[in-house]
Amino acid sequence: MGKVVVLDHPLIKHKLTFIRDKNTGSKDFRELVKEVSMLMAYEVTRDLPLEEIEIETPICKTKSQVISGKKVGLVPILRAGLGMVDGMLNLIPAAKVGHIGLYRDPETFKPVEYYCKLPQDIEERDLIVLDPMLATGGSAVAAIQFLKDRGAKNIKLMNLIAAPEGIEAVTAAHPDVDIYVANVDEKLNEHAYIIPGLGDAGDRLFGTK
Ligand code: URA
Repeated sequence: MGKVVVLDHPLIKHKLTFIRDKNTGSKDFRELVKEVSMLMAYEVTRDLPLEEIEIETPICKTKSQVISGKKVGLVPILRAGLGMVDGMLNLIPAAKVGHIGLYRDPETFKPVEYYCKLPQDIEERDLIVLDPMLATGGSAVAAIQFLKDRGAKNIKLMNLIAAPEGIEAVTAAHPDVDIYVANVDEKLNEHAYIIPGLGDAGDRLFGTK
């Protein structure tokens, strides 16, 4: 079973409060999402393998550790996931970025992929799927399945806020995927919005309504 890691660092909690506040405008919202994503990147990458190399300091030769060539891929789910990319790239600048776009078929309610562009070598990469909100889990479950269908083997999911329903859906469908969240909220309302949540993450990021 995949683990669920709640990153309840004081800095993350503080910034999340202002992300939730409806009086926070798009500029600050974007900056805060970027900052929280950067702080979360620190923990999501904790298990990257290290190797020792030899270097020379101004004083002497020594052995020191570097990340051992493990390749990371970021996969934001369009469009709200885009808000998390820059913060992640600040800490993992060598990561490649793929994009997945999904919409919900109005008749079947099933997620349909309308855009997908991924790094060619996704089967060799540690992929981190990005979406600020894990609500019903429908998009995350489908996006992860699309990645697996294309050969991805190591996948993590990173959200700012998750509903228990979404966590349950992802862990049931993809027990191999670890989930990293800044907070697990109470529940979903009848419109599948997270309570208390932050509203529509895409609209707040991009100033649309
Ligand atoms: N997507 C959002 O942007 N917000 C929610 O509360 C649920 C899904």
